[in-house]
Amino acid sequence: MEEQIMEVKIRQSGVKDLPGVGAATAEKLESAGYRDLMAVAVATIGELVETTGVSDAVARKMINAARESMKMGFETGTDVLKKRELVCKISTGSDAFNLMMGGGFETSAITECFGEFGSGKTQVGHILCVNLLSTDPDAVAVYLDTENTFRPERIKQLAEGVGICPEDALNRIMVARAFNSDHQMLLAEKVESLISEGKKVKLLVVDSLTSHFRAEYIGRGTLAERQQKLNRHMHTLAKVACTHNICVYVTNQVQADPAQFFGDPTKSVGGHIVAHASTFRIYLRKGKKGSRVAKLIDAPNLADGEVCFHVEETGLKDVN
Ligand SMILES: Nc1ncnc2c1ncn2[C@@H]1O[C@H](COP(=O)(O)OP(=O)(O)OP(=O)(O)O)[C@@H](O)[C@H]1O
Ligand SMILES: [Mg+2]
Repeated sequence: MEEQIMEVKIRQSGVKDLPGVGAATAEKLESAGYRDLMAVAVATIGELVETTGVSDAVARKMINAARESMKMGFETGTDVLKKRELVCKISTGSDAFNLMMGGGFETSAITECFGEFGSGKTQVGHILCVNLLSTDPDAVAVYLDTENTFRPERIKQLAEGVGICPEDALNRIMVARAFNSDHQMLLAEKVESLISEGKKVKLLVVDSLTSHFRAEYIGRGTLAERQQKLNRHMHTLAKVACTHNICVYVTNQVQADPAQFFGDPTKSVGGHIVAHASTFRIYLRKGKKGSRVAKLIDAPNLADGEVCFHVEETGLKDVN
């Protein structure tokens, strides 16, 4: 408890207290989204130089001072365990799916669902929003929509399914349409400003994570640049997830993998960059009799597994 209070105090003390930061630099930092010491502590020298125009040396000093004041560095396993206790799990609505995920989709982590069109990735995004809002009356969900697939009507339906007020649910989902990959990256960075406005953001859906990147960078020659940008985007998402204890849910498409002759000839877009940055990875596909199959293929502390469920009007339902 004492530590939590301490943490809040540190968060509240602004960047103005850093050495070498005058009023002008503080303003630049704040308007670029570096509103607390944590944001500065986890920034790179390049980022700070770019946003504030200070020299490399000053940027390094600022970062070091922020890190020092936050007592960043090593901590005991017990400290980590205490932080893990703050992690929440957002229900999928299906008991089997929740069980496979160790209770639900975790905060402080990135969960990726990849699969072919119609496999249910977007549905899962909508359902997570509603289930979060139904269990936490103050929570807010953010939906970053790149394919124009966010449907308020569907949210209303699902809200009725779990018995919460549909209008209230819609009021607590902040939707932003991203028109290209740069816009998407910018919007992801802006999530922090919602938090500093006092919104209790607990879920960030990015649907789809890769469609813009895939459409804008075509051909082998552009692959390195695409991956570099995607890497930066994943970093932003990981930072948002960890610094604010938020569940980040990203959807990803699959593409044909000509090298694969046996088994499922598909692989996810974004390659290792996306795969490694995601804490949990789920492969979604259509199953028998209109069901969906979710296969957990990568998780730090859970066994791999596979579950079957149905997408229904009121939400996800177990297969009897
Ligand atoms: N109201 C509803 N009731 C029941 N099932 C629904 C409802 N709305 C959507 N679905 C199911 O969800 C499917 C669409 O899934 P979804 O849009 O999540 O796929 P996706 O994986 O996001 O696909 P894409 O790659 O095209 O974005 C529909 O084909 C339908 O089976
Ligand atoms: Mg979709």
